[in-house]
Amino acid sequence: MIEFEYYNPTRIIFGKDTVPQTGPAARAYGKKALFIYGRRSIKETGLYDRVMTSLKNAGLEIVEHPGVKANPLLSHARAGVELAKKEKVGVIVAVGGGSVIDEAKAIAAGTVTDTDIWDFFEFRAEIQDALPLVTLLTICGSGSEMNNGMVLTNEESQAKFGLRALPLYPKVSILDPTVTFTVPPDQTAYGAVDAFSHVFEAYMAREDLDTPIQEGIMETLMKTVVARAPQAVQDPRNYNARADLMWASSLALSGITFSGGGPLALPCHMIEHALSAIYDMAHGEGLAIIMPGWMRYMSNEKRGVMKRFAQRVFGVNTLEEGIETLEKWLEYVKCPVRLSQVNIGEGEIPKLTQNAYQLAQVWELSDFYAPEVIKEILRLCL
Ligand code: NZQ
Ligand code: ZN
Repeated sequence: MIEFEYYNPTRIIFGKDTVPQTGPAARAYGKKALFIYGRRSIKETGLYDRVMTSLKNAGLEIVEHPGVKANPLLSHARAGVELAKKEKVGVIVAVGGGSVIDEAKAIAAGTVTDTDIWDFFEFRAEIQDALPLVTLLTICGSGSEMNNGMVLTNEESQAKFGLRALPLYPKVSILDPTVTFTVPPDQTAYGAVDAFSHVFEAYMAREDLDTPIQEGIMETLMKTVVARAPQAVQDPRNYNARADLMWASSLALSGITFSGGGPLALPCHMIEHALSAIYDMAHGEGLAIIMPGWMRYMSNEKRGVMKRFAQRVFGVNTLEEGIETLEKWLEYVKCPVRLSQVNIGEGEIPKLTQNAYQLAQVWELSDFYAPEVIKEILRLCL
């Protein structure tokens, strides 16, 4: 087992009827809250009223920052920083999925400094502190509710970058699976694929393969997502399916899976970020296309671990059957598995490669992932 430091201070409140706990959880950290949420769903589902009631009942003063879009934008986060500074808020309440929570983290970090938040993403400055953050998760997949990562898109440079920093862990995250009953089938599937990919990438990246604790946790998480995603897609109000997907997604990127395996590398994410930055596609949708192509490219290099994955996660014998079964599962939950299915042709590959290579350099993956390697992986995704 490779040496590691594991730290995860997020308090999780999980279960039905936990929404009213949002107000008291936030009130423990401040009197005035910046309430951040997405575009439409929160009002359409009635969750907005429930959260407002809870915040008001707890005696919080509320400033709203609505309109976070999927694949959140730097400009919108900068506006949130300005608002939080002007209003002198003491705590941030994020109600949404990865996009809302990630933007909330950027605002939390940006409010306590004069540094422009994009400097953090390009590693020109380090995050030293952040406002306390309380989250209420409405769609699962990103794992942002229980980790210290965040991802933003700089719309001027079309760069979708991500980073991790200790002050970004939410203080409290409220996980009520019934809140996700309204997530439509496509978004349910994309979230499940994202959660799956977080474990998949950690499983494949391990430098030490003789780590049965991590391996067992990861195989269980992947098998759970594989079994539960179709159930939630077909029956959105299946509580057990929603609950397992929620907890699996939170654990998937909480640190527990990759501690001991060596540094976490996310090459499929690196390439996918080019897709969501340029075409604004859902992150999980892009990953469904990249993962099988990446497996095909890496099948010689990672033969042993890929065969183990095929056998343990999908119960098939060979690596090739593993790739095929992964694709079948992705298709079963109605995800695209080829770039051509989302109308991206060979002519787009140079632009995608350039974009992904930028991130490869920032994430220090460029030694292996040179432009010609990225290009070849993308060709295998056509
Ligand atoms: O904006 P609204 O109207 O709320 O609609 C959202 C959004 O369009 C909708 N939705 C959310 N909850 C709902 C709902 N619709 C009905 N009922 C509900 N209860 O779902 C859509 C997608 O939401 P989003 O937050 O974008 O999804 P997700 O949680 O998958 O987050 C994706 C973002 O997280 C980043 C991704 O790159 C992407 O930007 N990631 C963050 C990570 C992290 N912080 O560690 C790691 C991940 O790898 C990922 O990169
Ligand atoms: Zn992801």
